[in-house]
Amino acid sequence: MGTNAGWRWKLGVMLLTLLPIPASAAGNDVRSGPELTNLVLQDCGSCHGMTLKGGLGPPLRPEDLHQLPAEAIAAIIREGVPDTAMPPWKPLLAPEEIDWISRQLKAGTLVSPQ
Ligand code: HEC
Repeated sequence: MGTNAGWRWKLGVMLLTLLPIPASAAGNDVRSGPELTNLVLQDCGSCHGMTLKGGLGPPLRPEDLHQLPAEAIAAIIREGVPDTAMPPWKPLLAPEEIDWISRQLKAGTLVSPQ
């Protein structure tokens, strides 16, 4: 009995220590600022407008997002908005990338002033 439980415990620890490896490997793929800026203007821009002033999706300029904290914006980008055209981006973007994009949207640094 005792040895059986000990084995299971060890297996659990082994799995826990193995799990973070793919996550940190994915970290190598984190895109740089200019690349992410391009992605936002191209991919997000296809719905939110090339200058993020809105289109199929609402505008994403800082004045449009003042009621949303960066963390709420990150959650929307991660999970999407169910039953709308806004897709979840977590399969395509690393959490660090999503946090970066949210902060830049709040700061309005992705689009030059029009
Ligand atoms: C296929 C179209 C589409 C694409 C691509 C898209 N969105 Fe959206 N997005 C929407 C729509 C539609 C909504 C509004 C959902 C609703 O009705 O609440 C939305 C809502 C949002 C909101 C919430 C805005 C608010 O004021 O509530 C944020 C933030 C956002 N999108 C960011 C992004 C980002 C960042 C990207 C790119 C990584 C992106 N979206 C790509 C369609 C899109």
